[in-house]
Amino acid sequence: MSDILAELENRRAAARVGGGEKRIAAQHSKGKLTARERIELLLDEGSFEEFDMFVKHRTTDFGMAEQRPDGDGVVTGWGTINGRMVYVFSQDFTVFGGSLSETHAQKICKIMDMAMQNGAPVIGLNDSGGARIQEGVASLAGYAEVFQRNIMASGVVPQISVIMGPCAGGAVYSPAMTDFIFMVNDSSYMFVTGPDVVKTVTNEVVTAEELGGASTHTKKSSVADGAFENDVETLAEVRRLVDFLPLNNRDKAPIRPFFDDPERLDQSLDTLIPQNPNQPYDMKELILKVADEGDFYELQADFAANIVTGFIRLEGRTVGVVANQPMVLAGVLDIDSSRKAARFVRFCDAFEIPILTFVDVPGFLPGTAQEYGGVIKHGAKLLFAYGEATVPKVTVITRKAYGGAYDVMASKHLRGDFNYAWPTAQIAVMGAKGATEILYRSELGDAEKIAERTAEYEANFANPFRAAERGFIDEVIMPHSTRKRVARAFASLRTKSLSNPWKKHDNIPL
Ligand code: HXC
Repeated sequence: MSDILAELENRRAAARVGGGEKRIAAQHSKGKLTARERIELLLDEGSFEEFDMFVKHRTTDFGMAEQRPDGDGVVTGWGTINGRMVYVFSQDFTVFGGSLSETHAQKICKIMDMAMQNGAPVIGLNDSGGARIQEGVASLAGYAEVFQRNIMASGVVPQISVIMGPCAGGAVYSPAMTDFIFMVNDSSYMFVTGPDVVKTVTNEVVTAEELGGASTHTKKSSVADGAFENDVETLAEVRRLVDFLPLNNRDKAPIRPFFDDPERLDQSLDTLIPQNPNQPYDMKELILKVADEGDFYELQADFAANIVTGFIRLEGRTVGVVANQPMVLAGVLDIDSSRKAARFVRFCDAFEIPILTFVDVPGFLPGTAQEYGGVIKHGAKLLFAYGEATVPKVTVITRKAYGGAYDVMASKHLRGDFNYAWPTAQIAVMGAKGATEILYRSELGDAEKIAERTAEYEANFANPFRAAERGFIDEVIMPHSTRKRVARAFASLRTKSLSNPWKKHDNIPL
């Protein structure tokens, strides 16, 4: 009997070695952890329960019948992050370069199916040479099975992809359809076609890092939501992110203990807005001063920084924040910022996370680059996302809310629940100078007259009261009371019930 039990332990030990000590050493020498070491860091200690440790591929071509390592290049199972269940797969680069075979895909699909059935997030740790070359179409079919599950899981359970090595070819499309992508600096890359193909087709000479490294995808393409120094830091950040999220779309986000008074006033906010309306200030200061314990989890920080997106907690409950950032391009809305914020708003709405919007926006960015790039369609994404969202929406206009951008930024008209403005708010079709120049074109030669007209326009519109007169602003609030007002607003909306008319799905301008 003891022999039989020992046999299991021996088999397990053999499976845990993956592609062997030499390949594990090679993995470590690149500054990368192994698939199992990563899972250990990601999950609560001792919580991992593995599935399919003894699964082997069934390929016989190219001498593969003689190489059938246990697990087939991916470690799968479930465990907990701060006590909450998640499903995880971690590709093992030491086994056939983590390449995806038919059976490797089946293992991933199994945990995705269980995650859907049991309502828990899926976290994929990607480190793979792509389709298992020896398998051909069976591998491609495996990818497509994973893709289909990514699509079905979208909006049902949070899906997080962590790119911790190569991720190339069609393989990128599984992470691309998940909710968040994190990358590791210097050791991960993602591209549809690698540098060699790029050179052949376009004659461009580019390194893998330049083409698809973490910096490229967090700053230029916006494919990734964050990048971190190494495996350890990246996995710690995934744990932090998961703490903000509900387990599925029927569940509420977790309520964490909080040690910050919801009624806390912050007098320094009364002087946040500079005297000169064209002078920038840091909107993140407001976010930090409103958040419980000043904790803000920012996403896509290095892309389209003219809009800020991320999670805070109010009274221990997760709130998604979208805020124009006057420090970058005066906080203007453009193609990139609209896309970035729209995707974030849709994530929040899909998972019942209330949305707090801070507005200081001079309008949409003019120019041929924007128009040719389709700012009409991309700007509409954000408008659409806010308008369809049924979660609690609280908006605070701190300064400018001009033109169409006023409408877009979670205005009353897009079913904003609480629309507050600071006394410094200016809600108008455009700034006073531009307005005067259009309305009084014939007087442009007379500087004194124009200054008078501008002052008159400012007196009329450079304030929140015209909008408040109509009930488009529910109340003008003191800046120092923002945390208290916003927290009370969200507290009153905890039982909000709003639904959209039945439809198969909407047709958001993609
Ligand atoms: C089978 C693979 C493999 C693959 C790597 N290996 N990729 N085995 N299928 N796709 C194996 C290698 O043979 C090697 O085995 C081990 O993994 C490590 O690979 P190295 O090349 O030694 O590692 P490194 O130098 O770090 O290079 C990593 C790499 C390179 C850049 C990923 O291996 C590579 O270019 N692989 C091929 C990538 C590729 O073209 N994949 C198909 C893409 S198309 P040993 O036994 O020596 O340890 C695709 C389509 C998906 O994926 C479509 C979805 C719809």
